[in-house]
Amino acid sequence: MNDYLQANRKRWDQLTDEHQASSFYDLAGFKAGKDRLRSIELTEVGNVQGKTLLHLQCHFGMDTLAWARRGAVVTGVDFSPKAIALAQSLSDDLSIPAQFYCSDIYKLTEVLVGAFDIVFTSYGVLHGLPDLPSWGKLIAHYLKPGGIFYIVEDHPMFRVFRPKPHDEFKAERSYFHSDTPQRIEATGSYATDNEGESSVSYVWDYSLGDVINALIAAGLHIEFLHEFPYAARAKFPFMVQGEDGWWRLPAHQHGIIPFLFSLQARKPA
Ligand SMILES: C[S@@+](CC[C@H](N)C(=O)[O-])C[C@H]1O[C@@H](n2cnc3c(N)ncnc32)[C@H](O)[C@@H]1O
Repeated sequence: MNDYLQANRKRWDQLTDEHQASSFYDLAGFKAGKDRLRSIELTEVGNVQGKTLLHLQCHFGMDTLAWARRGAVVTGVDFSPKAIALAQSLSDDLSIPAQFYCSDIYKLTEVLVGAFDIVFTSYGVLHGLPDLPSWGKLIAHYLKPGGIFYIVEDHPMFRVFRPKPHDEFKAERSYFHSDTPQRIEATGSYATDNEGESSVSYVWDYSLGDVINALIAAGLHIEFLHEFPYAARAKFPFMVQGEDGWWRLPAHQHGIIPFLFSLQARKPA
């Protein structure tokens, strides 16, 4: 694992400690049966009863276990030892069957053998990955013929903009990928209102074309690409949460830019 990924793994170990105590993840609620999955993926992935599902970058496994509660036969993968230890203990404590592997996804074939009906990944995964073509090949490798890959993720478009006073935002960053990652030194995370210990991580931006082409090059057929004008959390400080739980720009700006996309691709039968 290179220095960038080692720094990222250290950060995710630290964030696992902070996240399990956060209201964002509401671990107590999850243990009591509260749902974790959101309307987009629930509607689009549909019935998973009896299907084998590989969850890439599963963090501490709450979404993985939520799919298992819906009848999927689940396997979760993450490279943070703390996240995977917590995922395994949740699975044991809640008696929800699941297999968890602690592995860099780029090394996964060294530890996991198998093929799955669904490969799933979501919300905040792509910017930690240095190499999308290899990611596409990995997904294709783990799909059964006829199986589907599904992702719901931050849309690369809104990352171009930075919030400004008076509910405004301005294009300040490139939309396009650079092999050189951005170094970020930050406290906390999306789930902790940026409170907590400071840590360094490295992120890469990808255009939608980069994502789609990585999957096409791996032999998958794109079945849909959807874009949404709302986010799972406030991406700009002036976004407003609706009764449906999604965060939107104020009414006079709503719909200007996308905040999420979802995509389904199939491995030919
Ligand atoms: C933003 S979190 C995913 C959050 C998840 N969707 C959720 O809501 O719990 C990103 C995860 O990717 C993992 N990760 C980052 N790079 C990875 C890599 N190369 N291999 C495996 N896991 C990785 C991190 O450890 C972290 O748990």
